[in-house]
Amino acid sequence: MPVITEIEDLRRIYRRRVPKMFRDYAESGSWTQQTLRENVSDFSKLRLRQRVAVDMAGRSTASTMIGEEVAMPVALAPVGLTGMQSADGEIKAARAAERFGVPFTLSTMSICSIEDVAKHTKRPFWFQVYTLKDDDFMRRLFDRARAAQCSAIVITVDLQIMGQRHADLKNGLSAPPKLTLASMLNLATKVPWGLEMLGTRRRFFGNIVGHAKGVSDPSSLATWTNQAFDPSLDWKRIAQFKEWWGGKMIVKGIMEPEDARRAAEVGADAIVVSNHGGRQLDGAPSTIRALPAIMEAVGDRVEVHLDSGIRSGQDVLKALALGAKGTYIGRAFTYGLGAMGQQGVKTALEVIHKELDLTMALCGERRVGDLGRHNLIIPQGFDDLTVPI
Ligand code: GLV
Repeated sequence: MPVITEIEDLRRIYRRRVPKMFRDYAESGSWTQQTLRENVSDFSKLRLRQRVAVDMAGRSTASTMIGEEVAMPVALAPVGLTGMQSADGEIKAARAAERFGVPFTLSTMSICSIEDVAKHTKRPFWFQVYTLKDDDFMRRLFDRARAAQCSAIVITVDLQIMGQRHADLKNGLSAPPKLTLASMLNLATKVPWGLEMLGTRRRFFGNIVGHAKGVSDPSSLATWTNQAFDPSLDWKRIAQFKEWWGGKMIVKGIMEPEDARRAAEVGADAIVVSNHGGRQLDGAPSTIRALPAIMEAVGDRVEVHLDSGIRSGQDVLKALALGAKGTYIGRAFTYGLGAMGQQGVKTALEVIHKELDLTMALCGERRVGDLGRHNLIIPQGFDDLTVPI
């Protein structure tokens, strides 16, 4: 068993075990992937202030996100097709999150259904909502999330239409995978993955198949997002969802202060500064550089979270120091899941936690809530998106 000390170790195993089609799906950004790269590289432009001779005994990463206690402010992001990275992947990831004490967010585009995840977990999870044109489907989706005792919905507002990711089109991404010569040749080299997949009945989009009308090929992500997603989603409709749902609502996909204000006005309990992991608008800035202006606009009114680009506990710390109350990991836990199933997600969380805890200590902080800009050396112009850094 290799010694795992960083997320990159999990990624190396992941790349050997998971079929190319699903690996590419998780790893790709849209078009040139500039935003995907900058999400990661901009974190390293922030430096940390080392402080010494501070009593570090009894420090803690515990905090809250939307009022829920978390062992560290790091939730598992909604990741489509998680159950194709490893058989029953959403259940495995939700269980690892539950045991660790952090929120799990189930994607509408999951393989395991809301009901299935609820059956296999005790801690309420969050449900990510994609907006379909079909109102009956939407109302039922909220009813289903309520029946499953989800404690929040996460409305994704940056994917009414899907960004173009070259690899997915070339691979003919579908769940389950369509058997072409190329996919068969690749699948033949992924025997443990295939055997586990044959051992489960969860190989289709569990929240959609049998629930949504008017989708000609429900196995093809591209087809059903094009056919079923509502391109007319606007703030009025988001306010309507809040009313239908009646519980906590997180709005994910905010990159501009003006949109952050609109989200606060429609009653969001939290917003997620997110560019969808660089998978939607390529050319958008990194989320860590977009965060300060959004904090300035709504930080006193609404809880601000951040995703996209987080691959370490140090990245988490930097986001918290710039004001985020919570963060999300997507690819970082997906690598763990594809590499080693539930144990791999646990390992990913442990890696991030250890990095966060040690970095906090070396920065002279005992509580995540005490982190702030005073912990960072921020390059001139970092907050000003018109200044290249
Ligand atoms: C879905 O959320 C995707 O990014 O593919």
